[in-house]
Amino acid sequence: MTTKILMVCLGNICRSPLAEGILRSKLSNDYIVDSAGTGSWHVGQPPDKRSVLTAKNYNLDITHLRGRHFSKKDFQEFDYIYVMDNQNYKDVIAQAQNNTDKAKVQLILDEIFPGERVDVPDPYYGQQDGFEKVYHMLDKACDSIAQKLLKK
Ligand code: 4NP
Repeated sequence: MTTKILMVCLGNICRSPLAEGILRSKLSNDYIVDSAGTGSWHVGQPPDKRSVLTAKNYNLDITHLRGRHFSKKDFQEFDYIYVMDNQNYKDVIAQAQNNTDKAKVQLILDEIFPGERVDVPDPYYGQQDGFEKVYHMLDKACDSIAQKLLKK
């Protein structure tokens, strides 16, 4: 069976498309990787130029991705839901119907800092270097996620 992983942030234009591109590059086509935002402002839009450039610097192409809004249906669709920060966590958990849904949701940096509940900082209002930092955090977390998935 195909394993499906969803990356979630607020706008679905900065952090989660980058996380999607990074994890996609570490897994075979037996895995589906997608991303969504808890906010709807950027639905249908490509990722932020600064995320696209950061991805490109590491040989990842995320230009084809388009923003979409997280919905309750995603709990049925996906096996794992990784959120970027504690606010995303609250917003996603608020839409869970049951404990099975809730159990699918995890802060992505808990992969590398277990139980510390560290946020991936929102780089939207900052500069290019913020996106670079986010890339490295996500790359480490996605290495850990990929290793776990491949062991299952
Ligand atoms: P993201 O960043 O959640 O990493 O995609 C943001 C993008 C846009 C906005 C906020 C955060 N915004 O307010 O439009």
